Amino acid sequence: MTVTDSWQEFAASAARQAGNLHVASVSDKVRELHRRIHERYPSIVRIAVALHDPEMRRLKTFVASNDPGIAPLNGYECALDSVPSLLAIAESGQARVLNDLSKLPASDSTHSRWLHRQGFLSSLTLPIRQDNLLLGFLFFDAHERDVFTETVVADLLLYGHLIGMIVTQELATVKMLVGGLRLASQFAHVRDLETGAHLDRMARYARIIAREIGPSHGKTDDYAENVFLFSALHDIGKIGVPDRILLKPGKLDDIERAEMRQHVIVGQQMADRIINDFGLASLSNIDMLRNIVIAHHERMDGSGYPHGLHGDAIPLEARIVATADVFDALACARSYKPAWTLDNAFQEVTRMSGTQLYAPTVQALLDCRTEVEAVYQRFQDAGVKL
Ligand SMILES: [Fe+2]
Ligand SMILES: [Fe+2]
Repeated sequence: MTVTDSWQEFAASAARQAGNLHVASVSDKVRELHRRIHERYPSIVRIAVALHDPEMRRLKTFVASNDPGIAPLNGYECALDSVPSLLAIAESGQARVLNDLSKLPASDSTHSRWLHRQGFLSSLTLPIRQDNLLLGFLFFDAHERDVFTETVVADLLLYGHLIGMIVTQELATVKMLVGGLRLASQFAHVRDLETGAHLDRMARYARIIAREIGPSHGKTDDYAENVFLFSALHDIGKIGVPDRILLKPGKLDDIERAEMRQHVIVGQQMADRIINDFGLASLSNIDMLRNIVIAHHERMDGSGYPHGLHGDAIPLEARIVATADVFDALACARSYKPAWTLDNAFQEVTRMSGTQLYAPTVQALLDCRTEVEAVYQRFQDAGVKL
């Protein structure tokens, strides 16, 4: 099977899965369902979804629909194991009803305490599962006590199931897109300049940065999740780069460098083709894939490629991925260089901050050093070819 065959086969199956169901984003769909629920139960003023990252065992807010006047809980993230009540829901698969949040034990989670501080007095939590895997949690919150009676809960379980399906399907489609393209890359023997561990790490660094700077750039929490999912595809265009260049030990000459740089153009063509030919244009946030692929080598001072864009002209997600990608490239071994220490990698991105890299993205990495180190430790290269 050729690369083109396998890629087309995957794309066709992605299109079948995607169908026409992705016209609106998950946020829009949750907001619409909230509007309907609100008509029937006016006291339910907030619906939110938090996702679970099984690799890191962490929970993070994904989408939320809040009535006006309710401050959103942006970028909230915690270890699942630090919230026993949610862990119990995950293990039992059962809904949890809290009908008087003013009587919570002091040991309860940050999330429950936040709810109470916001003036919520009752809450319903449902696990979102796919097969036996925990995907996340769905929260319904109300300002009054005792809102979640047996009848209301029975009714909301149906809505909960629907929201769970919407989230599951959206994530499954994007994950299939990402997984399929990664597989196609492997068929094409795009080897160890970009190891699997590099993609695992840089995608998580990108998510941390997106979560940190998203709110001040007008982005909601689903933005960080999409940056995470799509960032692993930043170099899909390397399929088109010959091995003699891709795997060359040592520096490239000018002609080879120009050929290597073509990977962003090839990548964009692949992304465009899969999006346009196979009906994925309606998948929410799909532009993010294009932006990341084409612009992850642009630099703030205009010294990057392919277009020499400056500053804000570079899409935010590409500025985020550039920082995550450069940081990980420094901190891990490549065919042409040994790994730098984390200290030196942090120092180098700090030096590049404001000139080549977007300063807030570098600052976010520095601010979250503990989390960055946890990712670095968790995803080590199995066998880097030197
Ligand atoms: Fe690249
Ligand atoms: Fe990379």
